[in-house]
Amino acid sequence: MTQPFADYQPEIYLNGLAEQTPPFTTDPTALDAAAREVLDDGPYWYVAGSAGSGATDRANREAFDRRRLIPRMLTGATERSLRTTVLGQELAAPVLLAPIGVQSILHDDGELATARAAASVGVPMILSTASSHSIEDVAAASGTGPRWYQLYWPNDDDLTVSLLDRAKKNGYTALVVTLDTWTLAWRPHDLDLSYLPFIRGVGCAVTFSDPVFRAGLEKSPEEDLMAAVLTWVPLYTGTDKTWDRLPFLREHWDGPIVLKGIQHPDDARRAADAGMDGIVVSNHGGRQVDGAIASLDALPEIVAAVGDRIDVLFDSGVRTGADVLKALALGAKAVLYGRPFAYGLALGGEDGVRHVLRSLLADLDLTLGLSGHRTPAELRPGDLTPR
Ligand SMILES: Cc1cc2nc3c(=O)[nH]c(=O)nc-3n(C[C@H](O)[C@H](O)[C@H](O)COP(=O)(O)O)c2cc1C
Repeated sequence: MTQPFADYQPEIYLNGLAEQTPPFTTDPTALDAAAREVLDDGPYWYVAGSAGSGATDRANREAFDRRRLIPRMLTGATERSLRTTVLGQELAAPVLLAPIGVQSILHDDGELATARAAASVGVPMILSTASSHSIEDVAAASGTGPRWYQLYWPNDDDLTVSLLDRAKKNGYTALVVTLDTWTLAWRPHDLDLSYLPFIRGVGCAVTFSDPVFRAGLEKSPEEDLMAAVLTWVPLYTGTDKTWDRLPFLREHWDGPIVLKGIQHPDDARRAADAGMDGIVVSNHGGRQVDGAIASLDALPEIVAAVGDRIDVLFDSGVRTGADVLKALALGAKAVLYGRPFAYGLALGGEDGVRHVLRSLLADLDLTLGLSGHRTPAELRPGDLTPR
């Protein structure tokens, strides 16, 4: 079935007949500057900032710019479908919303707005453990929309099991375990502003609403916020895990598990050997290891190592439809879309996220066809210039 994602383009032009222009920019590379206008310094830099000098964030973009699509003609690409299968689940397009924490610093509705927008477009939302709304409330906002859950793995097994149970009960169909942020990197923009939402209890809703967490407190987070925050911090920061702990997750989660933050082919092999169902090749948008390899540069070797065994997903630096195509051509099954939708949330809540998503998918659909392809599966490394 053809997904009419490209129809957003004529819709926008037709609105022009009624003197209406889109409420937000259609240029994903201009969203950052637009969001800067509406956000205070703290929230803006929390999203836009990176680790250290920002070298990896820049490298993520440079890696996309270095590679170019080589369009093919007369391929009959009129009828297209963006549908694809990831982890055995059918997706409307090879795009998911990346897990982004503390969304209430961007808009009062936070993750609830994102959930509604994602569901209305049919794109899965990946809910972060660092969310500003509970698993249950975001699931209710998602309705029948597809949803995955991202685990920041707490240093407490009972709490971990409780979070997984809640995610399962609330319809989250895959588990994404983020490995690269077991402690926060050196982030100069946030440090210079002394800005960290979590120490004010913002972005802690998933844990603060957890019965196991609450049972361990003398007073509830509503009665004694600081005590709850001080209990929260060591659960999520300062302690790295090891590969031998993965069977614990398998024991307590019966759906697909994806490891996020993989950049080395040997780690990808270990994930496959450990029975994981997928990985996300990601450097967290350059927010963790400054000076690290561009995520797109890491992708081809990782696909060569494990692409025939597990699903390889990708993020870090995806901005345009062409970027999605480049990642797919290098072997990614789907991409996670990050900062641009966060800027959309800041600009217009649910409407802003929906606009950013529809714009990306329209651009992706058009660029897929104009470069001579009908489905994401047709893309090959040979559709790109060598780097
Ligand atoms: C403000 C912000 C918050 C984030 N929070 C999380 C999170 O809670 N969990 C997680 O796994 N990744 C988190 N990420 C990383 C994203 O999932 C994704 O890897 C990253 O945004 C990709 O880079 P890009 O946005 O530059 O494309 C966050 C990223 C940003 C910008």
